[in-house]
Amino acid sequence: MVAGAAVAAAVLVSLNATGAPAAPVASVAPVAAAGQDAAVQGGNADTLRALAKRAGLKIGTAVDMSALNNDATYKDRVAAEFNSVTAENVMKWSEIEPTRGVLNFGPADQLVAFAKANGQSVRGHTLLWHSQLPGWLTEGVASGDIDSAELRQLLKQHVFDVAGHFRGKIYQWDVANEVIDDNGQLRDTIWLQKLGPGYIADVFRWAHQADPKAKLYINDYNVEGLNAKADAYYELVKQLKADRVPIHGFGMQGHLGVQFGFDGRALQNVQRFEALGLETSFTEVDVRMLMPADNPKLHAQANGYSILLRACLLAKKCTSFTVWGFTDKYSWVPGFFTGQGAANLLDENFGQKPAYQAVKETLALAG
Ligand code: G3I
Repeated sequence: MVAGAAVAAAVLVSLNATGAPAAPVASVAPVAAAGQDAAVQGGNADTLRALAKRAGLKIGTAVDMSALNNDATYKDRVAAEFNSVTAENVMKWSEIEPTRGVLNFGPADQLVAFAKANGQSVRGHTLLWHSQLPGWLTEGVASGDIDSAELRQLLKQHVFDVAGHFRGKIYQWDVANEVIDDNGQLRDTIWLQKLGPGYIADVFRWAHQADPKAKLYINDYNVEGLNAKADAYYELVKQLKADRVPIHGFGMQGHLGVQFGFDGRALQNVQRFEALGLETSFTEVDVRMLMPADNPKLHAQANGYSILLRACLLAKKCTSFTVWGFTDKYSWVPGFFTGQGAANLLDENFGQKPAYQAVKETLALAG
């Protein structure tokens, strides 16, 4: 570990221990050094992606394709600030196969091409989930027209269709999303009901066959700290590894709320999954608040982002940190949580919030 990095790690550790922000000592030098990388990237040196590159981290965002196509400022910020992108919706089953047997890869292909043009990596989201499934599938299962054997065949075909189509273009796939409920039990979905618990191992084996180079993740929310749900994933992953299932990563979504406070034990949680031989990533980070926003909430929000990012930077194999959208102008939060919002790094006018500064300073410490 080079001298600068040792100092940076010491600062990060002290931050991690106290949670109190230290003076952003290191932010001058690394940003300057980051300039060289940004020069290579042809971008601005003072961006999250330039700093993340220096820290050896993929910094990403979920991308809303309608905003990408209709908002030039949004498009510019996606390209300038991030070296990784995730499709917010267009790689999900309901979007790719709204009509049975007719595959629509258009919007997802557009995102992959955009990423290539901007030197970005692509996280795939998601091959298997209990939500955003096509109506023909859920109705077919509900009516009994689609029985268990056919459902298993349809799932296998879907994994090969999608992971096969993007073969070699995706560095991390969320293969299985939200398969454990908040009580730590396997989530009661059509997959568990019709296929039994073995469906999880099956999708990982199929995804690995379809794209042997992609890192395959299991991904969920409320698993950032130490709790019953994270414990259940720890046991599940241990079993999958023992059964030689090709699982490579643990994804912690990171949908936090200022009003709930933050679990400061994210690093311990990340380290135990890494000790199982997995890499880790924060995959969908946002920190919402009860509206209206105010300064104490905005600064608490900044701390929420920093706690997860510091855990990632202090861990050995935390490879990517993705925010689930980066501007309050386009966010899933207000539509899902009435009276809540302002969850992102930039405000609705793309103005930098304390959270953006905190993420930048934390990245600079690690560079
Ligand atoms: O595509 C249809 C469109 O045809 C229709 O006209 C329109 C009007 O209803 O709906 C569009 O679908 C919407 C879709 O986003 C695409 O915009 C759905 O209604 C809407 O529910 C869906 O919301 C997404 C949500 O997942 C679905 O559960 C959010 O944008 C997306 O941010 C959110 O992301 C999830 C992750 O995948 C998994 N983890 C949690 C995270 C937040 O819920």
